Amino acid sequence: MTAQDFVLESYNSNIEKGKVKWSSPSNIALIKYWGKREQQIPENPSISFTLSNCKTITEVTYTKKKTGDFSFNVIFEGKENEAFKPKIQTFFERVEAYVPFLRDYHFTIETSNTFPHSSGIASSASGMSALALCMMSIEEKLTAYEDVISTEQSDEKSQNYFNQKASFLARLGSGSACRSIEGELVVWGQNESTESSDLYGIRFSGEVHSNFKKYQDTILLVDKGEKQVSSTVGHQLMHGHPFAKERFKQAHHNLGKLKAVFASGDLDNFVKIVESEALTLHAMMMTSMPYFILMKPNTLEIINRIWTYRKTNNSHVCFTLDAGANVHVLYPENEKESVLRFIKNELADYCQNKQYITDYVGKGAQFMKN
Ligand code: DP6
Repeated sequence: MTAQDFVLESYNSNIEKGKVKWSSPSNIALIKYWGKREQQIPENPSISFTLSNCKTITEVTYTKKKTGDFSFNVIFEGKENEAFKPKIQTFFERVEAYVPFLRDYHFTIETSNTFPHSSGIASSASGMSALALCMMSIEEKLTAYEDVISTEQSDEKSQNYFNQKASFLARLGSGSACRSIEGELVVWGQNESTESSDLYGIRFSGEVHSNFKKYQDTILLVDKGEKQVSSTVGHQLMHGHPFAKERFKQAHHNLGKLKAVFASGDLDNFVKIVESEALTLHAMMMTSMPYFILMKPNTLEIINRIWTYRKTNNSHVCFTLDAGANVHVLYPENEKESVLRFIKNELADYCQNKQYITDYVGKGAQFMKN
C-alpha cells in the first residue's frame, strides 16, 4: 500500500447528515517510537500492547454545509472544549487529501475518556484513533463498498482496507495512535523482522506464546500534571541527536529479539528488552539538546521497588515508561493476585492520591451503535 491508495476519489455528497460512534483504546509501547520524519513517518519501528480499559469514546455527528473552511466543534466530557481544537484542525489539514468530504460537513465531535482527565495518560493515541475511525465510518457511509464488493472474501478485504486506512489517518493525528486500531500486539514502522509499514500499524503476525495471554498493565499515576516537554518536541530533538543513529538501529535489533521472545515465551528476556527500551527512551531525552527529565523521584523509587520485588519473589513483573513520569507495571496474568497486592501495599504510596489504573491487553477498537 502507498499513501496514494488511501485517497478517496469519489463519494456521494447527497447524504445530509448522520452519526457514528467508536470506542478506541490506548496502547503501551514495548519497543518505543521516538524520532520521526515529515508526514509522521517514524525513524524506527515500534511495537505495542493494545489496552482494554483505557479508552476514548467519540461520537461524530456530521451535517451537510456549503463547501468551504473546516467547521467543527468539540464537546469533551459534556462541555464545549476549545483546547482540543488546534490539534483537530491540524489533523483535518493533514488528512484532507484522503477524506475530501471534510469540507462538506460540519462535525460535532463529542468525546470522553474512561480514564481520569489529566491523569498524565497519553490520550492522543486513543483520542486520535477514535476520531480516525469515525472518519472512516463516515467515508463508508458516503461510499458504497457493498456495490463494488460482495463476496465474503472481499468483505475481509474491505475490512482490511478500513483498518489500514483508519490506522493511516490516526498516524497523521498522532504517531502512536496508529497502533490503537487493532489488538493485541501491533507493529508500526518498516523493519526486517515482521510484516510492517511506515504508513500504518499492522497486527503482529508472528507466533505469540500463551505466557503473553491477557498480559497485565497497571498504570501508576505518579504525576498527573502537564508534561514540561511534549512528545512532539521530544521527537524533534532526535534530529541531530548524537546517539540517534545507534538508537534507531537498536530498535530494529530489539524488535527482532522480541519476536523470538514472543514465540518462545521467554519472560526473562522479555523483561530485559522492555525495561531497557523504557530507560533508553528516557536516556534519549536526557542526552538531547536541550536536555530534559520527565521521570520524578517517585518514578525511580517505584522502579527500584519493582526490581527488589522481582528478585525476592522470583517474579516476572517489569516496568515500562511513556514520555512522562507514570509507570506501567507489566506482568503475566498468573501473577495478577500477588503483584496487585504488592502494588496496593507498596507502590500506591508513590502515586498521586494513591491512584493507579488496572488494565490488560485488549483486542482493539469497537464500533458502537448509536
Ligand atoms: C514515548 O505518538 O505521542 O509514547 O506522533 O508527535 O503525536 P506524536 O507523538 P506520540 O509519541 C509517543 C511516544 C512514546 C512511545 C510510543 O508510544 O511508541
